[in-house]
Amino acid sequence: MAASTPANDALDIAKIRAQFPALASGFIFGDNAGGSQILGDAIDRLRDYLVNSNCQLGATYSVSALSTQRVLEGVRDVAALFNAKGPEEVTLGYTSSLLVENLARALEPDVQPGDELVITGEHEANAGPWKKLAARKGLTLKVWHPVPNNPENPYSVALRVDDLLPLITPRTRIVAFTACSNILGSIVPVQDVVAAVRRVAKERGADRVQVSVDCVAYAPHRRMDVQAWVVDFCVFSLYKVYGPHAAALYIRASALPSLSSIAHHFLPTSAVSKLQLGGPGYELNWAATAIAPYLRSLTPAGTLEAAFDAVAAHEQTLVRPLLGYLRGKAARGVRIVGEEREGLGRVPTVSFVVVGEHPVRSKDIVDVFDRKGGIGIRYGHFYAYTLVDSLQPKLDIDDGVVRISFVHYNTVQEVERVIEVLEEALAT
Ligand SMILES: Cc1ncc(COP(=O)(O)O)c(C=O)c1O
Repeated sequence: MAASTPANDALDIAKIRAQFPALASGFIFGDNAGGSQILGDAIDRLRDYLVNSNCQLGATYSVSALSTQRVLEGVRDVAALFNAKGPEEVTLGYTSSLLVENLARALEPDVQPGDELVITGEHEANAGPWKKLAARKGLTLKVWHPVPNNPENPYSVALRVDDLLPLITPRTRIVAFTACSNILGSIVPVQDVVAAVRRVAKERGADRVQVSVDCVAYAPHRRMDVQAWVVDFCVFSLYKVYGPHAAALYIRASALPSLSSIAHHFLPTSAVSKLQLGGPGYELNWAATAIAPYLRSLTPAGTLEAAFDAVAAHEQTLVRPLLGYLRGKAARGVRIVGEEREGLGRVPTVSFVVVGEHPVRSKDIVDVFDRKGGIGIRYGHFYAYTLVDSLQPKLDIDDGVVRISFVHYNTVQEVERVIEVLEEALAT
């Protein structure tokens, strides 16, 4: 598979692709929002951990000391990815869904009757645990819904901060939202949203508001900055950011006292480890240390900021032709679900449905790809069940949307190939 040539001093895609062993097959991975390919260096570190330091950490013997150091290095590197103040604000676990559930459990003793929780209909990971907490404690749940922004396409919906602010009352306790939609592809301006939430909360006398942000669909595409955002909790999955199958939770130091320990009763209750029920996957922590150096190596500046600027620029070259093609098929009944325009406000996660006089089921579009072979895309609700279920006119929730999602290692040629197959699928 030929790689695109960088148009400027940005990403060297051929060099990048060489670092992902799975890409050598030429298979076109177009389901990256489900999970990215893993760096060769992360694979090497998995093996290295298991061969050279595979024992219980925390003991005094030399191999255990190495294991301890490696596991902590994983946390330190992931803290840098969040731009947290330090590793004492970060814990790793198997999935983001599990970590937010643990978080909600740890917060449970601190909520009070009458507290209100605001969630979105986006991926259930940062909604379900709050719904369950509300049900257990009899709290009020409010949903921040997206609204259409193009009269000609009811599926082109987006979240507007103006619709969130009226939901804030003196009793608001948690505001939980997604930094980037895994369906719509649109980025929520986290810093602005959090600033507005905190301003309005203060005006209305809500002095216990905490903000929980799901960065799972954001972290592969943009630099996270939990300090600038002033969020209390943030989660992302390493397996979508070129690492092993694990996830990480950020807890702002000032938010720690609001959490009770869910760990064993004799373990410290003051540190972030109180959220760590059992150890992390040790080899996964060590494999995670491949991610930050890789990202820093992407540009001469050697910073995560520069890396994500370059990633965002390259990704625009991928999303532009795909959106352009889909917009051009409006007469055929293609409706983009989410942001229809390219630009830095969206990532290359593109969803659509085919409606009108000759509708095509999402499954049937994906079937055409599967019959051809060599390309992986997917259909469904992608666990953003409430969002997909709320779209009007209503969609069959199980058929959901067709989703094509690229990351920076994808090439313009791959996008062109995907468009060729789409053309065949839409000719039916
Ligand atoms: C936006 C978003 N949040 C959360 C998740 C869940 O991540 P995990 O599988 O680590 O629980 C996903 C997975 O697709 C996602 O896209």
